[in-house]
Amino acid sequence: MTPSTNTPERSSRDVASRDTAGGFSRRAFLHGSGAVAAAATLQTSATAFAQAAGGGTSIVSGETTIELSVNGKTHSVKAEPRTTLLEVLRYQLDLTGAKPVCNDGSSGAATILVDGKPMQANTLFAIAMVGKQIETVESLAKDKVPAAFTACDAQQCGFCTPGFVVAVKAFLDKKPKATETEIREGLNGNICRCGTYVNIVQAAVKLVKGDA
Ligand code: FES
Repeated sequence: MTPSTNTPERSSRDVASRDTAGGFSRRAFLHGSGAVAAAATLQTSATAFAQAAGGGTSIVSGETTIELSVNGKTHSVKAEPRTTLLEVLRYQLDLTGAKPVCNDGSSGAATILVDGKPMQANTLFAIAMVGKQIETVESLAKDKVPAAFTACDAQQCGFCTPGFVVAVKAFLDKKPKATETEIREGLNGNICRCGTYVNIVQAAVKLVKGDA
């Protein structure tokens, strides 16, 4: 296409005068912004490099595959940053003992052991559990605690029971000679809506006495 002859030709002086109009050079601005962009690119590259080298905080987004140690076995599972340990246990590993009764751990129904300490699986992010030893109520199938619950008829609907079993196990491992009062205090993070507390405490006392 032939360039329009109506377009007035600008002399290099015109361009220079427009470039410096108002005391601000357009070329200087473009040059400067180019430098800023380059610096930003370098910064991004440096950050990426530092992260790749393990020198920075990496940001995880989307689904990722992680390995979790659950009940003595290593499992490869998929988790987003927001995925809870409870969701992984129930919906990927089919370990449904821990229950989704609440979202904040206040019921104690999702009690599991992390490195031997009782915690609430619904308040833990799965990706934060990499490298930890997780034990669920399923690992206690042959333990004395569920046997004592059965002997003392310590459940009604059973929804709270797995959490109580794990809580009793963790508490008595820490305090094997606990008194009844101490047992009641030690289990106060778990709630039974059916009100089976008397039988649950009886089961724990039985275990302390070695009767179970
Ligand atoms: S037995 Fe029903 S909530 Fe405890």
